[in-house]
Amino acid sequence: MANEVFESVRTILAVREYADREIPEDIVRRIVEAGRLTASGSNVQPWHFILVRERAALRKLGGLVRTGPYTATAAAAVIVAYEKEKGEIGLSDASRAIQSMMLSAWGDGIASNWTGFAGRLEAVGKEFGVPDTHEVLAVVPFGYPKQRVIGRKKRKPVSEVASAERFDTPLT
Ligand SMILES: Cc1cc2nc3c(=O)[nH]c(=O)nc-3n(C[C@H](O)[C@H](O)[C@H](O)COP(=O)(O)O)c2cc1C
Repeated sequence: MANEVFESVRTILAVREYADREIPEDIVRRIVEAGRLTASGSNVQPWHFILVRERAALRKLGGLVRTGPYTATAAAAVIVAYEKEKGEIGLSDASRAIQSMMLSAWGDGIASNWTGFAGRLEAVGKEFGVPDTHEVLAVVPFGYPKQRVIGRKKRKPVSEVASAERFDTPLT
């Protein structure tokens, strides 16, 4: 039986080249909504999402995240921050929100990727007015893919990463 959620998980790939095409407003808003609706520990929702769409700001982001220069060409990007005082749970919650946004976007034909990581994005926080109470976890560029996304996931076999009942009994 078809399962659209699983299909998204199965097919989504990191995409680093985007078409020069706007994302319709309702789809952009749905991406942010997917983050907002994500579950968090004790429902604290310790995240903050900054939706960036101005070309100059996207270029700035591309310059600030060493591992994500292609954000400069994205149609939009979301800067994801979380409350520092929530520590590891905050990091986990915000990561989950990123996954929600990326999968929801993929369902609408929009590609994306995770760029950067907490502890290395202070310059992004400074530039975009993130207060000291928050840690920037990632910058996530979004856009229609420049070319058809063809690719296969390279993943370890299930027997290497999953067990049945006990760690030492591979799931086959
Ligand atoms: C936590 C995390 C951080 C990542 N950081 C970057 C990054 O800074 N720059 C980048 O180009 N890709 C980044 N990626 C994308 C991964 O490299 C990519 O998802 C992985 O190689 C698997 O490729 P696939 O998603 O196409 O299957 C990151 C992914 C995750 C989950």
